[in-house]
Amino acid sequence: MNVLLLGSGAREHAIAWKLSQSPKLTSLYVAPGNPGTADVATNLPVSLDDFDAIIRTCKERQIDLTVVGSEGPLAAGLVDRLLVEGFAAFGPSKAAAVIESSKAFSKEFMMRHGIPTSPFGVFDDESQAHDHIRLIDDTQGQLVVKAEGLALGKGVIVTDTAEEAQEAVTRMISGGQFGASSARVIVEQRLFGPEVSAHAFTDGEAVAHMPFSCDHKPIFDDDKGPNTGGMGAYSPPGWFSDADQQWARESVTEAAINAMYDEGLPYKGVLYPGILCAEDGMMVLEFNSRFGDPEAQVLFPRLESDLLEVMWAVANNKLAEVELRWSDQACVGIVLASGGYPGKYETGLPIEGLDDLDPDVLVFHAGTARQDDGTLVTSGGRVLTVSALGPNLQAARDKAYRNVERIGFEGMHYRRDIGARAVAASN
Ligand code: GLY
Repeated sequence: MNVLLLGSGAREHAIAWKLSQSPKLTSLYVAPGNPGTADVATNLPVSLDDFDAIIRTCKERQIDLTVVGSEGPLAAGLVDRLLVEGFAAFGPSKAAAVIESSKAFSKEFMMRHGIPTSPFGVFDDESQAHDHIRLIDDTQGQLVVKAEGLALGKGVIVTDTAEEAQEAVTRMISGGQFGASSARVIVEQRLFGPEVSAHAFTDGEAVAHMPFSCDHKPIFDDDKGPNTGGMGAYSPPGWFSDADQQWARESVTEAAINAMYDEGLPYKGVLYPGILCAEDGMMVLEFNSRFGDPEAQVLFPRLESDLLEVMWAVANNKLAEVELRWSDQACVGIVLASGGYPGKYETGLPIEGLDDLDPDVLVFHAGTARQDDGTLVTSGGRVLTVSALGPNLQAARDKAYRNVERIGFEGMHYRRDIGARAVAASN
């Protein structure tokens, strides 16, 4: 089979790495890809916004399956276009991708179907949003202000005071902080507790759950500082009880997939609900229409089945015929970021040490570039994810950090506490 994977992050490198192991694979192309995907596939200089170029590529390369890695092209209808042109695709239609692309839809969908989520309001009028924040003063300003549309993972502002919440609303609605995506905002009550990422493959009816995983979003240790795309992840979270796992699978993931079907929006691809474990019960923070990043970098190393077979089955409504096998090993992934990220950072800095790593440690590229002389340099905020497997979380964590310490670039920043609380909880 010839496969085209769209994206250029560490998530897509992890998907490409796993797809490249399939005995069913003839050729794997990644557009636009990165220096990491170039090691396991052929990168193609095709923009994700240029649907005509993507369709031309599918024709020229006789693509049997296109895998859409990120939410932007899904929300813009790429899967619909591929299907109309006669090409199989892994990912939801534009209508179904609304579960991530519209936060208002997502929250109202949860309310309609009894999926627990925090109290919220939706506003396009700034003064009404300000009045709402004043009226809910029992929250003491502990709120979350979200851009209604997609904002490259940056449209969520967590606040500690009502003033901060008012300012976030003003920046988004009248300041146009995230363009059209923040012309409407969601103001919701902030919740406290550990977060779990649930992922499942679905062809709209059959569901194959993946193991649970946990991301670490703030930039600094102990969850301090601004949120990022994700600074590291681990799987499995041993502290997440069997009963809670069952609840999340049935009452969140399966409930949402069935409800989408019932609403005439059959959902295909991967569904990734983000769940917060509050003291008084679990709440769903959001639904995502693609794999988490960096969750994918700790899930795919644990997948023993053929990913291409699974994705093909999803695209062709045959998921019920496929059985997924997952390793019992734990996996920890550490994100190495540019100094200054998620704010301003330098690029073009040489990356050293990648040749000195343990042979079974995985390095997934994101913000990297290969110069003409072959030097690998930084080119983005999140640069690499270093993932290691181990018989338990402690062993996986130790191995990941031992190898991270051999890598260097000027200003390199990483969190030292990825998976630390989970290890402590298991002792
Ligand atoms: N892990 C966060 C995200 O992918 O949205």
